[in-house]
Amino acid sequence: MQNAKMIQALNEQLNKELFSAYFYLAMQAYFSSHNLDGFTNYFRVQVQEERDHALGFFNYLNKIGGKVTLTEIQEPQNDFSSPLEVFELALKHEQFITQSIYSLMDIAREIKDHTTEIFLQWFITEQSEEEENMGRIVNRLKLIKEDGAGLFMIDNELSQRLYTPAVIPGITL
Ligand SMILES: [Fe+2]
Repeated sequence: MQNAKMIQALNEQLNKELFSAYFYLAMQAYFSSHNLDGFTNYFRVQVQEERDHALGFFNYLNKIGGKVTLTEIQEPQNDFSSPLEVFELALKHEQFITQSIYSLMDIAREIKDHTTEIFLQWFITEQSEEEENMGRIVNRLKLIKEDGAGLFMIDNELSQRLYTPAVIPGITL
């Protein structure tokens, strides 16, 4: 049986994941304009991951016969003052997304929707990895402060990040 509240919350999460991709695309553009190729690569991969997350919710809704309702995607911040500001905003955004996934889990538990609970489990694990990863970069950027050599070292490291398509159990992206 369909639960209207659950379907609506899943649709809202689909929109939030699309917004995440949009937000990180703005961050990608910022780094690209500063010729920081490793940071640009990091956000290119991040955008692809967020698209996968969005498609995960899209496909899950289709799978359970829930109506997909696409809504307007909010305009993201387009101007940033420093790499540190970007990563602080990205981390804050991921913390917001984590809370949002937790709220979805609360609804699933409340209505005893065990199938959705299992689906959401993957995202909960993913969120803790995202936060850990971004938190680490925030700390490093704080450490190097205005040091150009340090910035290029981080840039070089972030150039290694590779995109691997998300494998969400039971979902074909
Ligand atoms: Fe996401």
